[in-house]
Amino acid sequence: MKSKRHRKSPRNKLGTLLFRPLRFLFGAHVNRQLKINREGSLCLQFVLTATVHHGKSHLAIPESRNGQPCLNPKQKKQPKTQTANPESRNFYHSESLNKKNRTNPNQPTLEKTYMTRHASPNRKDGENNTANQNAPENNEMVVTPWEVKGKVDYERLIREFGTQPLTTQLLERLEKHPDKLHLQLERRIFFSHRDLDTVLDLYDKGVKFVLYTGRGPSGPVHIGHLVPWIFTLHLQQEYDTRLYFQLTDDEKFLVDDEANLGETSKYSYENALDLIALGFKPENTFIIYDTQDIDLLYDITLEVAKRITYSTARSSFGFQDSTNIGWVFWPAIQAAPCFIHKKLTGENVPALIPAAIDQDPYWRVTRDVAQKLGYYKPAQIHNRFLPGLGVGGKMSASMPETCIFTMDPPEVVKKKIWNAFTGGKGTAAEQRKTGADPTVCSIFQYYFYLFEEDNVKLAERERRCRAGELLCGECKKDLTEKLNKFLEQHRERREKAKDVIDQYGIKR
Ligand code: TYM
Repeated sequence: MKSKRHRKSPRNKLGTLLFRPLRFLFGAHVNRQLKINREGSLCLQFVLTATVHHGKSHLAIPESRNGQPCLNPKQKKQPKTQTANPESRNFYHSESLNKKNRTNPNQPTLEKTYMTRHASPNRKDGENNTANQNAPENNEMVVTPWEVKGKVDYERLIREFGTQPLTTQLLERLEKHPDKLHLQLERRIFFSHRDLDTVLDLYDKGVKFVLYTGRGPSGPVHIGHLVPWIFTLHLQQEYDTRLYFQLTDDEKFLVDDEANLGETSKYSYENALDLIALGFKPENTFIIYDTQDIDLLYDITLEVAKRITYSTARSSFGFQDSTNIGWVFWPAIQAAPCFIHKKLTGENVPALIPAAIDQDPYWRVTRDVAQKLGYYKPAQIHNRFLPGLGVGGKMSASMPETCIFTMDPPEVVKKKIWNAFTGGKGTAAEQRKTGADPTVCSIFQYYFYLFEEDNVKLAERERRCRAGELLCGECKKDLTEKLNKFLEQHRERREKAKDVIDQYGIKR
């Protein structure tokens, strides 16, 4: 569905008629906009599309020749960027995000979307690709809090984001029973961190920590969201510690042109049920609903916001002149729960944040200000993305066909899995002969991430796949059964959560 902003008005239609010939003459680089000027008359505006390449980009990562930002690959002049602290280094910079200003799809471009989910360069409004048609136009990696696509190179993210790899030694320190690593640690689904070692050192000296994670309630929860939450629950049980869980209905309202507050608040409630269904206990779990609980967050938010310059925010999040000011301010609200424990209990302890690495930009700016405000820097432990059922990128609600929602009925799950991208061959005969490739198969990833806990069985599945003994149809059928069983049980627990959800709110 088109956002209202993008619908063609009569004014725009007139512009299209007038400018089609010009566009033909000038090629793809000249765009036109019809505008009403201050005097109220119709005027024409030419926009030259400028594409900014930023070699140090931590988000869209094709490198410029010398690893420095440049206006385009041929141009040496570099735009000035301001960096307050190495942790909040610029990780993305682009201009001309409005896809209307781009008419040449082949032009090398790092334009990325921060503006709305409808501004994604590789997606047309209303487009829902089925999995196997879903190969990105190019496989360029994009990792932002609002968009992940392309083939995600995790080692490169560690380098570019400046995080630390999770070493075996650290994993074993994190587990109270190091001989029995949690599956997500053993399989390195959690792969990177910031200051986890510091948090564990403090813990050894008697300083506890709290857990903090969250969800942007823009729609129903999918099974990718469950990945960090399942591990968070494990940590909570191991360390008997509090979890603060933020539901950012305000964020989703601000970043999405089509969202309205009623809808995002409704999804806050729905998404909270999914969290509770995983087994979090009310004594230790505190859900923060942003629009309802803003009184608890506001003073901390202000202290944080005052210490982040616009320049840092722009370079960290890619804000543009056209970004609404609510969104520019908003990151301070995601920072606030890192510090809320002290306000609620008087105890100053660090927060440890389990989340996928897309959320890291928030923590970079938060870590910059933490000590100035008398808090510990929040620590992070980052997970990889559960991929969607298509090619590349992560499971994302904006691609519902390649995404399994917890509320998907069994026949929908079956259909989505049946259409999934696999590492199989063109025909069954060929596959029996030459085998398939599990490393590119979305279905195999689901076993790896969530649905085959037994390493021996997983290895055997992989072996049979490679040997051509296991065909994709059978593998998909097994997964459908496992997934539907899991979802059925999850939904039963989710239903029960409705009776207790009030116990998870923060009491005044
Ligand atoms: P949101 O709603 O985009 O995502 C919720 C959590 O799920 C992780 N995630 C995934 N993990 C594995 N595979 C995937 N395919 C996948 N997709 C998303 C995200 O990293 C996140 O941990 N702004 C946040 C809400 C938030 C938050 C937080 C998240 C507020 N405070 C603190 C983490 C920690 C958001 O919109 O998340």
